[in-house]
Amino acid sequence: MKILIIGNMGYVGPGTVNQLRESYPEAELIGFDIGYFANRLTNTVLLPEVKLNNQIIGDVRKFPAGVLKDVDAVVYLAAISNDPMGAKYEEVTLDVNYRSCIRIARIAREAGVRSFVFASSCSMYGLADQYAKTENDTLNPLTAYARSKVFSERELEPLANDNFTVTCLRFATACGMSDRLRLDLVLNDFVAGAVTAREINILSDGTPWRPLINVRDMARAIDWAITREQSNGGAYLAVNTGSNQWNYQVKDLAEAVAEVIPGCQVYLNSNAQPDKRSYRVNFDLFAKLAPDHQPIHDLHSTIEKLYEGISEIGLNDPKFRDSKYMRLKILSGLQEKSLLDENLSWTWEPQMVLR
Ligand SMILES: NC(=O)c1ccc[n+]([C@@H]2O[C@H](COP(=O)([O-])OP(=O)(O)OC[C@H]3O[C@@H](n4cnc5c(N)ncnc54)[C@H](O)[C@@H]3O)[C@@H](O)[C@H]2O)c1
Repeated sequence: MKILIIGNMGYVGPGTVNQLRESYPEAELIGFDIGYFANRLTNTVLLPEVKLNNQIIGDVRKFPAGVLKDVDAVVYLAAISNDPMGAKYEEVTLDVNYRSCIRIARIAREAGVRSFVFASSCSMYGLADQYAKTENDTLNPLTAYARSKVFSERELEPLANDNFTVTCLRFATACGMSDRLRLDLVLNDFVAGAVTAREINILSDGTPWRPLINVRDMARAIDWAITREQSNGGAYLAVNTGSNQWNYQVKDLAEAVAEVIPGCQVYLNSNAQPDKRSYRVNFDLFAKLAPDHQPIHDLHSTIEKLYEGISEIGLNDPKFRDSKYMRLKILSGLQEKSLLDENLSWTWEPQMVLR
């Protein structure tokens, strides 16, 4: 088996590579990434990419079709990966998350790839706190990021056929330790606040709902999707990926962090505008289709591991929201140094290829 993981050098990628290397020790694993966050490693004794057979540094917007030769499965993680980045780099977000994804999926199908796994997002449900949304509910993407995921799903669906299985995993918000940690995610942010200042600053009034998933459970779901049979979910499947128990209100997350990290004060912002990113999600379909790949991590141990990991990094600046652990800061910093242009392309050509 030959698996291509596109966007493997971010937060989700390293755990995915690890999981796939464990599940398929003999497989040929190839990574493809532009490398924005390649040097943002956290405490790892091993460069995550050494578990690959080959790492290609390249841009999905200029994807060389030859990379797909003999590939059986593609995992598409590449993205401008949150709302603030999507707001600042709207066209790039659509280009990377959506247009390039569809172009590559088309070439992949032509090249004989059997399975295409797309990292989608539950944020496409928009404001949805009345009841937990199922896959059949109306989508209401409120941001460029969420729209990019909806557009991709819409155009991936007609590409699926008997020989080309497409699985869109609508992930809950990720959390947990990774070899390339990011702190612009709600639970990770709370733990960082608790470690650096013994403070957890909730930007909202604490009531918004947010389904979460441990980043390592995302990797298990990707593992499942790669080899999913069409008899289990059809040629095309879009499935909420997480678990019903992990639908939390933001204030519950803060309290859980305060339980693990003693002496923390939780601050709410009672003057905040209502948070439109409040949503609850129903994960029954994923439970039915992937009984052996259900999330196995719990909130308490996820917080403990984050506490341990963030303490080991030696992070002690309460202004961590301005730090190199924030994806948007990294991109802006690379632009300020004229390493990235206004389209987030490297300012030199050609791309480097590592073998
Ligand atoms: N983290 C979450 O909470 C979450 C939740 C739901 C879905 N997802 C999705 O999972 C995927 C991975 O998320 P992540 O947290 O690892 O994000 P990340 O930002 O850490 O990683 C994204 C990767 O894509 C790469 N990339 C960006 N533009 C590229 C380009 N033009 N060419 C090649 N590579 C490019 C980046 O270099 C980076 O390594 C994304 O598609 C994201 O939308 C993430």
